[in-house]
Amino acid sequence: MSAQRESWSARSGFILAAIGSAVGLGNIWRFPYVSYENGGGAFFLPYLIALATAGFPLLFLDYVVGQKYKGAPPTAYRRLVKSAEGIGWWQVAVCTIIGIYYASVLSWAGNYTLFAFGQQWGEDTENFFFNTYLQNASELTLTYSSQLLTGLVIVWALILFILYGGIQKGVELSNKIFIPLLVVMFGILVARAVMLPGATLGLETFFAPNWEKMADPKVWLAAYGHVFFSMSIGFGIMVTYASYLNRNANLTASGLVVGFANSSFELLAGIGIFSVLGFMAQASGVPVAEVVKGGIGLAFIAFPKIISTMGDAGNLVGILFFGSLFIAGATSMVSILQVPISAVQDKFGWSKNQAVTIVGVGSAVISIALFATQNAITFVDIIDNFANNIGIVLGAILSIVWVTWFNREKLPVLINHINAISSMKVGAVWSFMLTVVTPAALIVTLGLTLKSLATEGYGGYPASVQLIFGWGVVIVCAIIALLLPRIKGHSSHEE
Ligand code: ALA
Repeated sequence: MSAQRESWSARSGFILAAIGSAVGLGNIWRFPYVSYENGGGAFFLPYLIALATAGFPLLFLDYVVGQKYKGAPPTAYRRLVKSAEGIGWWQVAVCTIIGIYYASVLSWAGNYTLFAFGQQWGEDTENFFFNTYLQNASELTLTYSSQLLTGLVIVWALILFILYGGIQKGVELSNKIFIPLLVVMFGILVARAVMLPGATLGLETFFAPNWEKMADPKVWLAAYGHVFFSMSIGFGIMVTYASYLNRNANLTASGLVVGFANSSFELLAGIGIFSVLGFMAQASGVPVAEVVKGGIGLAFIAFPKIISTMGDAGNLVGILFFGSLFIAGATSMVSILQVPISAVQDKFGWSKNQAVTIVGVGSAVISIALFATQNAITFVDIIDNFANNIGIVLGAILSIVWVTWFNREKLPVLINHINAISSMKVGAVWSFMLTVVTPAALIVTLGLTLKSLATEGYGGYPASVQLIFGWGVVIVCAIIALLLPRIKGHSSHEE
């Protein structure tokens, strides 16, 4: 007999933790570089449209499935539609894989917070990031970096320590400490950034719509791809967090608070970063769009470079920026790991400590084995791309199509449940978005992604590396999704 399911101490505890989950590396590391690569202002409107047509509809679906069926995705989906357990496992597998590389970027943020004291990255920030810090090797290698190893061990120890505390004394408590701290630190950072000379130049780029660029499907792809990662939806997190809510918690009001808080934070991050880019553009006399290289390195190469131009004032900006990145990422990392932990507790009736030890320590070992090597950034880049653009998107499509198309009678059940307990009611608009607009947008997105991967591959990496770490991720998720439902579970999971 497994212990009774844990719960949040109050709805406010859930809301705080859900905000902690949503606001993460996605908001501070990913959103600015995705916006920058897509022309700044050209990205903002598609992002808002993606939020309204797919983000919120799916957020409400995740909430209602988790809260009504009281389980991590495999159990919750199984109780909703018996044949859907595998979809839940797909989401759990994608989530676990995201956790395994997320820890790596988180440890970089931790290290860079320390490097910010005295701006230890020096003049050549690109060389420092790739060669001094990551010791990046162009070939696959099993050579380890002791600095990366130490960073990863500390990150995993912190996250597992929080998870051993359980929902109230671990997850909820850590969010109560970290979120206010994050708001204060990031608030000071953005206030400092908008006062820099040239900030308005950057903000103009961020807010000015660029209609021409918006005709490019890639911009829309990026917007839809980003919204899911950022809101923590479609890969099991919100289903799991909602499963610890009591049965009559107001779902839509919670969803609106969490969704708006997440987007506000993203907006704030955009304002802060584009202000700094504007400062750099003015100082160096080039347009904002050309001031730095975008991509994964925006936070770790361009930002330190800009900080270096600020003299001593840059120390504080650096500490606040990387410290915020670390704190925001840590609360998200906790939510990511809670998904597989909760899933195996449901399935096998394991205690919390057993689940954290087996799943948490197991994931930590894989993560450290891969990301303490001199290939860390290659693995992050490839796995991030495949896990997000195929893993999350396909998981979202499968859950929506399976539940709302093939088991259509379930949709009114979910709508009635939401409306019985929520202040804002859902109805025809939500159904239309969820059953038509969201899947259509996602199917087109996935189709374009697959086409581009088939014709161009990803990131210019050797085909064998893409095969192992990109397509390999997809194959592992598929095997887990097909296999786990065939294994007999603990009695309460089988209900
Ligand atoms: N939602 C989390 C983030 O934005 C995963 O980083």
